[in-house]
Amino acid sequence: MSEKMWAGRFKKQLDSEVNDFNSSIRVDCRMYKSDIGGSMAHAAMLARQGIIGEEDAEAIIGGLEGILADLDSGVLEFDMTAEDIHMFVEAELTKRIGDTGKKLHTARSRNDQVALDLRLYLRDQVSEMIEEIKTLITVITDKAEAYKATVMPGYTHLQRAQPITFGHHLMAYAQMFLRDIERLRDASDRMNFSPLGSCALAGTTYPTDRRFVAEKLQMQGICENSLDGVSDRDFAVEIANACALIMMHLSRFSEEIILWSSWEFKFIELDDAYSTGSSIMPQKKNPDISELVRGKTGRVYGDLITLLTMLKGLPLAYNKDMQEDKEAVFDSIDTVRQCLNVFAPMLDTMTVIEKNMLDAAAKGFINATDVADYLTKKGTPFRTAYKISGTLVAHCIDKGTVLEKLSLDEFKSFSEVFEADIYDAINLENCTFRRKSEGGTAVESVEAQIASVRSKL
Ligand code: ARG
Repeated sequence: MSEKMWAGRFKKQLDSEVNDFNSSIRVDCRMYKSDIGGSMAHAAMLARQGIIGEEDAEAIIGGLEGILADLDSGVLEFDMTAEDIHMFVEAELTKRIGDTGKKLHTARSRNDQVALDLRLYLRDQVSEMIEEIKTLITVITDKAEAYKATVMPGYTHLQRAQPITFGHHLMAYAQMFLRDIERLRDASDRMNFSPLGSCALAGTTYPTDRRFVAEKLQMQGICENSLDGVSDRDFAVEIANACALIMMHLSRFSEEIILWSSWEFKFIELDDAYSTGSSIMPQKKNPDISELVRGKTGRVYGDLITLLTMLKGLPLAYNKDMQEDKEAVFDSIDTVRQCLNVFAPMLDTMTVIEKNMLDAAAKGFINATDVADYLTKKGTPFRTAYKISGTLVAHCIDKGTVLEKLSLDEFKSFSEVFEADIYDAINLENCTFRRKSEGGTAVESVEAQIASVRSKL
């Protein structure tokens, strides 16, 4: 353990177990690029404002470039006994360029430094995550296009309700993931303000130019209150929240994949590369990926609660509790990205068993609504028509038959309104493909949805 930056005020070295407990480098070392980028912008600003010499800034920036390159290539390893990534980089800089390195931390504190680093790091992560979600949406829309006329049962209460197309079902998920992208962009835009120059909490007496730093880092502006600048972690909560919603969507999708791939449904078969076997039951092919995605949703929800709970009692401004923010928000991001990256190809490679979908749609009186709609269109009030249709279903169940197999006379015995065209009205394909209302399940509607989603990507 090297001497602490703050050793001046202390008479003893830090206890080594406490050092370990206090240190965050294991978690925050991944922010090294953001830390170095932020420091370079800060050094440039210090020189521009005459707070340090031009030569000092050049030496500092050159030194930081070297550290960045060596960390990238692996020549330089993190010192895991360092307190955090900020202390590590600064110590390494001073090791390399001597006392000039000690000028870097002028008009700055780790409090504003860490807040900046986290924003910059999350900004990159979010933009990569958005690309991954786009890939998933592309897979979904391509599949929806391929199966836009595949009839399957639509469910409510997991009971067969009305026939839909598989493409329509898939496109529901495209909408969810589009909203996820919007949420991430929105959170990222709000996060893209620089807290640097808030210093420890109160600002500084040096003639800094905070907006110059913000601009250099391609941020939209600065945090306008220094206390808020160092103590705000709303952005981490917002991103963790967006991640929790992404996981909820992935988890609902997973649940369906699990059901669909069971023998009870058999609507799909997962590719061998995306399923696993059992150690004892030779016949098994398990949807482990979906189950893991569903399972990991819990930890991402947990990360969100960790952040909210960590923050709720904190007085202004910085408190060490906040060091816990990174592990939680990094875990949500890592988990979501990992899930997205296996989910998209799993979906892409699955086999859709159209016949089983169609067979399932042919059962369960899925056209009962259409019987009621038929009567309604011929003048019977909907409630009355609804009741007649229900009575017909009960009649079929008693007789062990289905609506489309009843004779016209049988239909007529329930209502004089029935004509021969009832068979056309309750034909499964017609029930599906005639639902042409905007956002409905008909092929044209699914095509319109696909075109709209694609244009948004
Ligand atoms: N490792 C710390 C964190 O992640 C950096 C800020 C430390 N500031 C301080 N005053 N101890 O929050």
